[in-house]
Amino acid sequence: MNSSTLITHIKARHIFDSRGNPTIFCKVTLADGAEGCAAVPSGASTGKYECIELRDNEKAYGKKGVFKAIYGINGLIREQLVGKDAADQEAIDRLLIALDGSEQKGTLGANALLAVSLACARASAAAFHQELYRYVGGAFACKMPIPFMNVLNGGRHADNGLDIQEYMIVPHGATSFAGAMRMGSEVYHALGALLKEDDYRTALGDEGGYAPAMKSDEEALRYLVRAIEFAGYRPGKDVSLALDAAASEWYSEGKYRLNHRGHTLKGNELIDYYESLCKEFPIISLEDPLAEDDFEGFAAITERLGKEVQIVGDDLFVTNAHRLMRGIEERCCNCVLIKPNQVGTLSETAKTIHLAKEHGYQIMLSHRSGETEDSTIADLSVAFFAGQIKSGAPARAERTAKYNRLLEIEDTLEESAQFGTIPLK
Ligand code: PGA
Ligand code: ZN
Repeated sequence: MNSSTLITHIKARHIFDSRGNPTIFCKVTLADGAEGCAAVPSGASTGKYECIELRDNEKAYGKKGVFKAIYGINGLIREQLVGKDAADQEAIDRLLIALDGSEQKGTLGANALLAVSLACARASAAAFHQELYRYVGGAFACKMPIPFMNVLNGGRHADNGLDIQEYMIVPHGATSFAGAMRMGSEVYHALGALLKEDDYRTALGDEGGYAPAMKSDEEALRYLVRAIEFAGYRPGKDVSLALDAAASEWYSEGKYRLNHRGHTLKGNELIDYYESLCKEFPIISLEDPLAEDDFEGFAAITERLGKEVQIVGDDLFVTNAHRLMRGIEERCCNCVLIKPNQVGTLSETAKTIHLAKEHGYQIMLSHRSGETEDSTIADLSVAFFAGQIKSGAPARAERTAKYNRLLEIEDTLEESAQFGTIPLK
């Protein structure tokens, strides 16, 4: 036990996220005066199996207040954690899980638990005078992730006629994180210029990508390829494409209803559709191509396309080691999306990542569509040697907070920094 890292105080209050909804900000103070702060994000297309975000469900803030969750932190959690060692992350997280006592963390709220869990890690890192990525990842944490930048928004993140939720550009041809950000930023602006030229609106969606009223997913993909070329890069060589279909949103009674397309497809027909998109466009990654309960469909698409295309489980795995284990057994996906707020503590996040690595899965750290200026996922992507991160467009402060933090880390690492590679295609 290290007496200087004993918790002396925990204080939570509410702040606003990028969609203007309340969320939790928490500060943990230690015996030596070190402090750590964390703010939690919030999703829109949340998976059914995610841990529960505790909201007040009362008139204030359109039922989205987080006063109950804050009350839990400033009451029971503070009472039980003061005097405990913040450097013992496992024990802190175990205690948080026990205090909540429910399967999906709905008693105190996964939002409350994550705020405390991350603030403890930050406070302890500060006590040891270490950067968070070093504190969590150790001396060899030097691998910079490839950024997956969401430059066109559809689905639940925009109201524009696109069924697919996220169209991302992946500048894997770069040799550094800074180089990748340059490519991404230039393609993003090229896309804006092309849309303007064709009289499409250039208003932004929730994740900072453009949200033009397009006729079809194919039209959106054609614009992306043109934007890559217009910026002077080679599609598929320097910059490729990635999609997050968020297909749980389309699923009802065994079928997939693509509202804007006006089609209802069976699982195998939807896989045919993805296959044709991957043939026509330089797509290297497909996230949630099928619904969160469709393990069979995920196994089928992984078998059919998984050698060439990364198949990413988000709503399917919800950063949960048990669900990932089932996916491993049933050969679903080859990459797991990691969103700490889906599972509620840093230790459980680490456990899921380690399980994924043991079984040869790729790791992609992820933001949520409702974000804050907290950049913890940037540090975690380096700490866990993830190799990939998605944090929306290279625009809007809550998105660039993560990318800017990674630029800072790469700058600090200098010659030691390594850049991720995409193992497929
Ligand atoms: P969400 O979307 O944060 O609204 O859930 C992000 C995603 O589906 O990856
Ligand atoms: Zn997703």
